Amino acid sequence: MRNDSARRTAKAGSRSVLLTVALVVLAGCGAGDDDLSTEGDVQANGELPGAVATDLDVQGDDREFVTVDDFVRGYWLRPVPPQGEASDAWSPLEASLLPEDCGTCHPVQYGDWQTAVHSEAYSPGLSGQLVNWEQNAFGTVESCLVCHAPLSEQSARVAAGEEWTSNPSFDPALRDHGIVCAACHVRGTRRHGPPRRDGSVDASPEGSPHSGVTRTEFFEDSRFCSGCHQFLPGGAAPNGKLLENTYTEWENSRYAAEGVVCQTCHMPDRRHLWRGIHDPDMVRSGVTIEWTISDAEAGLQVTNTGTGHRFPTYATPEVLVSVQLLDADRQPIVGASTEHAIARRIGYQAGAWVELSDTRLLPDSGVAVTVAVPPEARHVRASITVRPDAFYRKMFESLLTGMLSDTSRALLTEAGRRAESSPFRIFDEAVPLQP
Ligand code: HEC
Ligand code: HEC
Ligand code: HEC
Ligand code: HEC
Ligand code: HEC
Repeated sequence: MRNDSARRTAKAGSRSVLLTVALVVLAGCGAGDDDLSTEGDVQANGELPGAVATDLDVQGDDREFVTVDDFVRGYWLRPVPPQGEASDAWSPLEASLLPEDCGTCHPVQYGDWQTAVHSEAYSPGLSGQLVNWEQNAFGTVESCLVCHAPLSEQSARVAAGEEWTSNPSFDPALRDHGIVCAACHVRGTRRHGPPRRDGSVDASPEGSPHSGVTRTEFFEDSRFCSGCHQFLPGGAAPNGKLLENTYTEWENSRYAAEGVVCQTCHMPDRRHLWRGIHDPDMVRSGVTIEWTISDAEAGLQVTNTGTGHRFPTYATPEVLVSVQLLDADRQPIVGASTEHAIARRIGYQAGAWVELSDTRLLPDSGVAVTVAVPPEARHVRASITVRPDAFYRKMFESLLTGMLSDTSRALLTEAGRRAESSPFRIFDEAVPLQP
């Protein structure tokens, strides 16, 4: 169904122009057309890789990466320039960019990756929006693909000056796989990877498949992840805080000083899991939950003790802490309850993002959610519900009220269904007030 996008008929008209603007804005993911710079215009300060390129007429990427600085400056040029022709000496399997082909020889990473959100990044929620822009606003499509499907070979069109022309190296199957192995590991057909587990980086043995690997410490650096998880200065920043600020949050935490990088928590033992807000065990590992009970007040203390950035880092999830006092018959006491959302709430008003509230927890900070204890109270009950897609759920609902093609409607309906079924509880207990 997803491939229908290319065949979708353009439903033009004044309404669709307005709709496009609303969609870009609601997507909540920053980079609009204005953020696109030209090839080679790598970010000036060279500290964070986030460069976005257009006008890639190179057909084979022959850039050399030697120092970590080369990687920081150029590895995440996006879209990743076209790979070019693989060596004649390689078998079709070695030359393929498809994840299932990498998986023939790297089954562990392939198995993990299939369970991770990175493999789903060309999702119904994304593609259901993109189909509306394929014909008339390809710049907007590309501004999303740079993070969700970043290889040139994943884009139906390429920029040629002001125009978007059809891309000879486009592979729709590759696009539908989202953030593929090659997006992180292949540049100019050359395979890149981390140092061996013993730390060595010397060349692969003669005759290795895909002519071996170039090994670099950049793969063990948080800047490897920042291109897609950190907006650059100048991006949307309601109340002075960028909408995606994960790298900076991490950099300002004790984890950066302790050498605990993104990969330490999200790729333990180099596993390709990238668990986050959608995974109950991962969320539990990020916080400490304690009862706080006195004669006057009762409730929960929630502290960010294991999340290497704000808990949660984005404005899209919501964590709800509920406390209810119960009487001797374990019945809820009216008026003796509270609910607190740990979340950054944003809204779009008069053409700009505004921050409505921000109660996210900085690393090593916490919040006490308590209720005053009335005389008849005997027990306290509390729960913590995680809504990973709280923002997107509302967004999909609102998009579905608009004028959409059938393809778009079907995809966004599926996205809405997924967002609705993603909430889970990480805590639900009742205890007596007096031991
Ligand atoms: C025909 C089998 C085969 C295929 C297909 C294959 N690889 Fe490899 N790959 C290997 C072998 C063997 C090595 C070990 C080379 C060495 O010792 O340096 C390797 C090494 C690697 C490494 C470094 C691993 C390490 O241990 O540090 C990475 C990263 C890698 N491949 C990525 C890929 C990607 C991405 C693809 C698909 C685009 C792919 N490979 C396809 C066989 C294959
Ligand atoms: C800077 C990288 C980046 C760009 C550019 C980007 N996204 Fe995202 N997107 C993310 C990340 C990271 C997440 C997951 C975190 C979150 O929930 O916000 C995400 C999540 C999403 C989701 C919710 C999850 C899903 O797949 O259903 C949608 C929908 C989405 N993006 C649409 C878009 C659209 C549309 C655009 C272009 C207008 C876009 N994104 C541009 C990084 C990006
Ligand atoms: C989002 C980026 C990303 C994607 C997608 C990705 N990898 Fe990796 N891969 C990494 C990073 C980063 C490391 C190094 C992790 C570390 O050293 O902690 C790595 C390490 C590896 C290694 C070395 C593992 C080891 O035990 O030494 C192999 C092999 C590999 N990846 C293959 C693959 C294959 C095959 C796929 C697709 C199924 C894939 N990768 C997808 C980022 C990625
Ligand atoms: C090419 C861009 C890109 C790179 C590089 C990248 N990510 Fe992501 N990541 C995304 C996008 C896009 C999403 C959201 C996908 C979706 O839901 O549609 C995401 C989602 C995630 C999630 C969210 C899981 C959840 O439950 O929602 C985690 C955790 C994550 N990435 C960690 C990492 C780490 C760690 C690295 C570095 C090793 C990394 N990412 C590199 C683009 C990227
Ligand atoms: C000390 C461990 C730790 C480190 C370091 C860490 N994270 Fe996380 N991360 C977590 C935990 C735990 C969660 C789940 C709770 C949450 O969502 O905040 C998470 C969640 C996420 C999510 C899910 C979205 C969200 O709104 O929370 C993304 C994306 C993510 N991390 C990316 C990164 C990136 C990129 C880095 C490096 C700059 C990084 N993380 C460093 C532990 C860590």
